[in-house]
Amino acid sequence: PELIVISREGDEKTVEGASGLSVMEVIRDSGFDELLALCGGCCSCATCHVHVDAGFLDRLPPMSEDENDLLDSSSSRDDRSRLSCQITFDEALAGMRVTIAAED
Ligand code: FES
Repeated sequence: PELIVISREGDEKTVEGASGLSVMEVIRDSGFDELLALCGGCCSCATCHVHVDAGFLDRLPPMSEDENDLLDSSSSRDDRSRLSCQITFDEALAGMRVTIAAED
């Protein structure tokens, strides 16, 4: 399925990601090294923060308490914020647009 990624500079790129990867991995594999993902996807760094298209929010897995707490440490958190390593990419999310959040 396709994922649309918007960089911090506002550049939009449509990328193809494999189902079963996390959205963080799809973004990283597509060459966006500005998404640091320092902890490698174990929900402990918050450097994989993205803003998700409002229309897809209710298709995402529920947020864990850890994810919620980590997002609270980010100054750019809004109601479309998620940690991209906590979202498994699949057909249900085809065409989703994610914006890489500002660096804290
Ligand atoms: Fe560290 Fe997602 S990669 S929380």
